[in-house]
Amino acid sequence: MKDIMTAPFLRETCETASNMYRLGWDERNGGNISVLLDEAEAAEYLDMDRVLRRVQTGFDAKALAGRLFIVTGTGKYFRNIAKQPEKDLGVIRISADGSEAELLWGYSDGGSFTSELPAHLMTHISRLAADPLHRVVTHCHPTHTVAMTRVHPLDERSFTRSLWKTCTECVIVFPDGVGVLPWMVCGTNAIGEATAAKMKEYRLVVWASHGIYGTGRTLDEAFGLIETVEKAAQLYMLTAHLPILNTMTDEQLEAAAERFGVDYRRDFLDL
Ligand code: 13P
Ligand code: ZN
Repeated sequence: MKDIMTAPFLRETCETASNMYRLGWDERNGGNISVLLDEAEAAEYLDMDRVLRRVQTGFDAKALAGRLFIVTGTGKYFRNIAKQPEKDLGVIRISADGSEAELLWGYSDGGSFTSELPAHLMTHISRLAADPLHRVVTHCHPTHTVAMTRVHPLDERSFTRSLWKTCTECVIVFPDGVGVLPWMVCGTNAIGEATAAKMKEYRLVVWASHGIYGTGRTLDEAFGLIETVEKAAQLYMLTAHLPILNTMTDEQLEAAAERFGVDYRRDFLDL
C-alpha cells in the first residue's frame, strides 16, 4: 500500500486549499472542496474493506452509490489543511443505499465532512450528467464576488453580462455564464437542491451574500473559473461607481467568443 500523504489527489487538494486561503477566499472555516476519486487510484493508497465510521448523508445520494470522494471537514480552516490533512480531510464512499458516507480515511480528530455535503454531492450528480469527465466541486467566499452580490441585481443574465464586460477573458473562460441564487440558509438540503438545479446548465453558481461554487474536471479548472469571476468582480467593484467611458460591446463579446470557438450563451447578448 502506498503512503496516502503522497497521493496526487491529496497533495492537490492541500495545495488548492492553501491557494484559496492565500487569496483571501476562505476566512476561518469558510469554503469546502470535494473531488470524485478514481477507484483504482484510491485503492493504491487505501484499504477499501476497512470502514472507520459511518455518517448519515442526510439525503438520498443513491445516484453516487459506491463513489469515492476526498472532502474537506466541517469547521476546518483552509489555512491549516496542508499542515494536518489527516484531521481536516476525509475520504468517504457513498453507501449502496445512498444514506451513509463510509469513512475510509481522515477526520482523525472525530470530525466529519463539510456541512455543505448536500450542495456538493447534488452538484456532482448534476455536473456528471452534463459532463462525464466532471470531478471537482469547490466552494469559497471571494471578497469581490460577494461584494458584487450586495450591489448588483441578482438575475443571471445581467450578472453574467456585467462580469463578461469587465475584461476580455471572461466570455472565453466562462462562456456558459454564472448561475445566481438569492440568499438562502446554507448547509441545507434546500440550498443543495437549488444549487444542483443551476448546475445543470452552469459550472459556476454564486450564492448572494455568501460565496461561489465552481466545478470542473480538475481542481485547476474549478479554481481557475472562480479566480476569473473574482478578478472580474474586483474590476466591477473598482469601477461601477465611476463614469464608464469604455466597455466591451455585445458585438465585441461575440467576436471574442467566436475567435476562441467557445459555446457561449448567445441569449445573454443583445445582438
Ligand atoms: P464547513 O466548515 O461546514 O465546510 O462550512 C463552511 C462554509 O463555507 C459554509 O458555507
Ligand atoms: Zn460558505
